[in-house]
Amino acid sequence: MDTNSNKTGEGAAEDVAIAVGADKPQRKVFVKTYGCQMNVYDSDRMTDALASDGYVATDTMEDADLVILNTCHIREKASEKVYSELGRVRKVKEEKAKTGKQMMVSVAGCVAQAEGDEISRRAPIVDLVVGPQSYHRLPELLHRASNGSRVVETEFDIQDKFKHLATPSKEAVRKRGVTAFVTVQEGCDKFCTFCVVPYTRGAEVSRRVEQIVSETERLAAAGVREVTLLGQNVNAWHGTGPDGREWGLGELLFRLAKIDGIERLRYTTSHPRDMDDALIAAHRDLDSLMPYLHLPVQSGSDSILAAMNRKHTRDEYFRLVDRIRNVRPDIALSGDFIVGFPGETDQDFEDTLDLIRRVTYGSAFSFKYSPRPGTPGASMDEQVEEAVKTERLARLQALLMEQQESFNKSLVGQKIDVLFEKLGRMEGQLAGRSAWLQPVHVDAPEELYGEIATVEILKATASSLQGRLI
Ligand code: 5AD
Ligand code: SF4
Repeated sequence: MDTNSNKTGEGAAEDVAIAVGADKPQRKVFVKTYGCQMNVYDSDRMTDALASDGYVATDTMEDADLVILNTCHIREKASEKVYSELGRVRKVKEEKAKTGKQMMVSVAGCVAQAEGDEISRRAPIVDLVVGPQSYHRLPELLHRASNGSRVVETEFDIQDKFKHLATPSKEAVRKRGVTAFVTVQEGCDKFCTFCVVPYTRGAEVSRRVEQIVSETERLAAAGVREVTLLGQNVNAWHGTGPDGREWGLGELLFRLAKIDGIERLRYTTSHPRDMDDALIAAHRDLDSLMPYLHLPVQSGSDSILAAMNRKHTRDEYFRLVDRIRNVRPDIALSGDFIVGFPGETDQDFEDTLDLIRRVTYGSAFSFKYSPRPGTPGASMDEQVEEAVKTERLARLQALLMEQQESFNKSLVGQKIDVLFEKLGRMEGQLAGRSAWLQPVHVDAPEELYGEIATVEILKATASSLQGRLI
């Protein structure tokens, strides 16, 4: 999963709560989300689960009766953020206590799963520690914690979670906008030697076809136009179709494309080993499947790929990219890269730069290797010095930025479809996304919010496009 999208609690949603929790006293929940898109999705599901208990979302921590930090464990920096944020939460809680008001504090997400009761030991203000598989049980767990006892819940029963995911109200979906995430798969069996995900999210589990179809239908009926299917290994998703045959992600995408109102489909994050023929065929045949693919390779060196346990070579990756581009020449690729994995030599790093030059990415995420407790990488010899990692990351990012900018600039003068998903920063502007996920700013009337319109691109920078309505 990429880990660059951050989002705090949903905007104040008073009108939603009145409908769902009318018989309960109204309380406010502030959710702060760290990490990947699955955490963003999970945060919304937590808010939905709490709505039945009278909670409404607030985006001001000081107003909250309950604060939830939905945390990320992928790299050390992400993990440590929790404890500094808990320092801030403690101050707010103490201030509120002076005026006789209570505030409960919960730590959710992957740090909760990985560290369990260590969290409440380090930060005694935490009332509830809850792992990603137990969010549907939040009301009950909070009730237990409200008696003053600290509760730690890190059970793994993901099918149970999928079965009991709360349904957002139509109003809640509308407030969240015209694009939405749907989790179809969770967990990972790949055990890349740098990665904590198999430990924090557990084994690969696929959600059932009927659940995915009905959730997507509900989103479409509430006005959602674009759905991104989520999974740590989304293209390992499989299930039994209504025809009784075993489906992969390709077949699932064909089914979802039939739902009225769904104009755009995306999925993330994929492992190169799970790109099967049906999925590649979907990129050829499905107009609503966007020509954008996040296909992390991590390194361009065969020996590092082997040490990372990625289970493919650089040549296999090149061949896969060729197959995908053969059927969908306009596809933009995106990737994740790690520099400074143990044992990475200058030559290994040069091989990564060479791979990037050969493949050419439209966008990418890149990171310094961060040893994670319990993963094989952390105890490997030949850890790379911090200064070397810093220098390699700068060179790698400069190359990726150059590619991203030249991809964006290649669209200047072209007429492209844009889905308008937000009001713009300036009055009279709307902000949307291209098929390749670039942000596009356009002078446009508010009525076009939620619509797809043709835009001529006038200007491009490394991070966004500007255009005018045709
Ligand atoms: N150190 C640095 N980056 C990591 N990632 C995962 N684990 C680590 C780690 N220990 C990166 C990978 C992955 C992305 C989500 O985060 O590139 O694809
Ligand atoms: Fe982590 Fe590798 Fe699984 Fe991706 S495939 S979640 S990087 S172990």
